[in-house]
Amino acid sequence: MLNLTRRLPVYVTSRPRQSTWRTYSAPTNSNIPPWRPSNILDDWVQREAHPISLRQLTFFGRTLTESRLLSSANYVRLELPTRIAHRLRNMQTLPYSALTNEHISHVYEAYYRAFEIFRKVPEVRTLTDNDRFCEALQTTLKEHLTVIPRLAMGILEIQDSVSGDECDRFMNTLLRSRISRRVIAEQHLALNETFHSPWHFDGKRSAIAPEDEFVGEIFLKCNAKEIVEKCAQRASELTRKAYGPTVSLPKIVLQGHLDTTFPYIPSHLEYILGELLRNSLQAVVEQRSSTEPPPIEVLICEAAQHVIIRVSDQGGGIDREILPYLWSFAKGPRRMKRLKNLGKVPRLAATMQDLQLPPSHLDSAAGSGEKFGSSLASLSGRPPDLRLGIGLPMSRIYAEYWAGSLELHSLEGYGCDAFLQISRLGNKNEVLSTRATMDA
Ligand code: COI
Repeated sequence: MLNLTRRLPVYVTSRPRQSTWRTYSAPTNSNIPPWRPSNILDDWVQREAHPISLRQLTFFGRTLTESRLLSSANYVRLELPTRIAHRLRNMQTLPYSALTNEHISHVYEAYYRAFEIFRKVPEVRTLTDNDRFCEALQTTLKEHLTVIPRLAMGILEIQDSVSGDECDRFMNTLLRSRISRRVIAEQHLALNETFHSPWHFDGKRSAIAPEDEFVGEIFLKCNAKEIVEKCAQRASELTRKAYGPTVSLPKIVLQGHLDTTFPYIPSHLEYILGELLRNSLQAVVEQRSSTEPPPIEVLICEAAQHVIIRVSDQGGGIDREILPYLWSFAKGPRRMKRLKNLGKVPRLAATMQDLQLPPSHLDSAAGSGEKFGSSLASLSGRPPDLRLGIGLPMSRIYAEYWAGSLELHSLEGYGCDAFLQISRLGNKNEVLSTRATMDA
């Protein structure tokens, strides 16, 4: 249960609520009301996050020395509590009834615990210190696996006290920030693993394993074609599970620059392409054509600075009433359906694996009619019919995170074209704030 007395009594109960995220700015010491003592969180909220680019991460990790590994640890050690502090402060601006929602308060508590753990980590000076730090990172990453489903559920439940637009800004800010924290934490863990791998000699050899060309989590030669194929297979399996073994699935046909490679974190691309393909498959299947279903075409186009991946289906397009809310976490006619679905989701799932539902639950998947509803977890670890409707907005956050974009064009009555643009050069900083949320 949320411990409000210890952490935010005056802030939440006495401070006037901020009307939007846009107008919110962290209080400076001079405007802290006299009745509320300055606290440690305020100090961390004053700090700025330091964004990084894929290229920086790559160059930094390429030649891995002990001192670089320790620098990486210290960057993460300071960056995590800073980024978490900003999000805690965002959460504190929610109305009391929203913050005390079961799911939102669960996330708040988890973040507060993580903040307390990481802010107290002393400077990492030795490999032993680093081992201890890595353990804390691993434990926290695991603990936070339920953050996304919790937020997705919470946001649907607090709409009596928070407007749909505010909910969307809140979700965008929190999820973008979560990606950023997991990227820097996982990158450090991956570098640590590289450092301790048998083929690495401190600074004398490239940290890149010759056979796989990974620098930490970054795959230098990420091949869109291979990822599309992998996601196509997985999305087809999920659709078959959801609609039954006799369902006739469309072929997924690849065209264009199939040899294109670029530096990227494969799991991010897998998430986005998995969602797009799954939506397309579902849309085509629900057309219930008696003839062979028309193929889904995936075009990969390599330009000087970008790779563009277009996913085209003939699934009938998107309903007019849904279209304006396609990128919303909280708004639109699907909200009620999603709210109803909440009862089906195990509420106390400890891990993503726990979210696998019993077979009886899967029976209700077919014909749910929610064309663009989507998943909680990454494509690999979720039940086939689990739909809280966050897959598309979440995919766009992933795309924009490394300065890319995701757009969807619906051709009413015919199908959909999704355009995913990826920055090829990897030289753009992670995008920590959106146009609507100017705080990092
Ligand atoms: C998250 O997954 O939400 C995190 O913040 C993880 C990070 C503290 C390592």
